[in-house]
Amino acid sequence: MQGNLPTIAILGGTGKEGTGLALRWAHAGYSIIIGSRQLEKAQAAAAELNAQLGAALVSGMENADAARKADLCVLTVVQGAHQQALESLKEALQGKVLVDATARVDFRDPRPPEPPAAARHAQTLLGPGVRVVAAFQNVPAHSLKKNLGKSLNTDVLICADDTDAAQEVMLLAEAIGMRAYYAGMLDNAIIVEGLTAILINLNKHYNTKTASISVTGIDVQSLGN
Ligand SMILES: NC(=O)c1ccc[n+]([C@@H]2O[C@H](COP(=O)([O-])OP(=O)(O)OC[C@H]3O[C@@H](n4cnc5c(N)ncnc54)[C@H](OP(=O)(O)O)[C@@H]3O)[C@@H](O)[C@H]2O)c1
Repeated sequence: MQGNLPTIAILGGTGKEGTGLALRWAHAGYSIIIGSRQLEKAQAAAAELNAQLGAALVSGMENADAARKADLCVLTVVQGAHQQALESLKEALQGKVLVDATARVDFRDPRPPEPPAAARHAQTLLGPGVRVVAAFQNVPAHSLKKNLGKSLNTDVLICADDTDAAQEVMLLAEAIGMRAYYAGMLDNAIIVEGLTAILINLNKHYNTKTASISVTGIDVQSLGN
């Protein structure tokens, strides 16, 4: 922990989504570990982020070491490596909250994925010793890297069987400028993954890279989430 903020490991964190989340959380004061299959690649990504931040807030480790060292882990491996990464990290993740950002959508042919949700699959594979939370599947990497420290004007739908774990992740989303909503149990994450297919279609049709989602009709302030 840094102060009372959890240390976050981003597994497969050398890619587009992982480095975007890392940049925002590090800028907000969280201690970040970038995980990779290769130590040197993790350290190089961390060094690049620290150069952008102007401070040594990010370190790099192999994925399993990063998972063991962190209070909470975020999985951002490329979608095709989801199962393989989970199998190799099962032991290291025991006792942790794992945030799964996986959206199994092909950029070239974006369609809704088949159930079960990637995060449900993760929960089944990892077992009850890991509390899986699905989040950030609709947050474009392109937006994360822009306007650091400012609100993203995007919403995050959080699905989890464990509402305490969901609450922890809602705080993390809010800390980096997003509005977060608890959207039900892990099975609902299949809809959130499917929304990514729609967002990719919107990006293509309207020639942008930053389509995202916004929930209306809920006064989060008055509900206290
Ligand atoms: N890009 C977006 O805008 C976006 C938005 C929302 C959600 N997501 C989700 O976030 C996840 C990552 O997307 P991305 O665009 O960041 O992907 P990416 O840049 O293509 O890849 C992420 C990382 O996956 C790791 N990886 C590749 N093959 C692997 C394997 N066989 N085993 C373990 N790790 C492997 C690599 O890390 P190392 O080589 O360092 O191990 C790579 O840096 C996906 O599930 C995607 O659906 C992405």
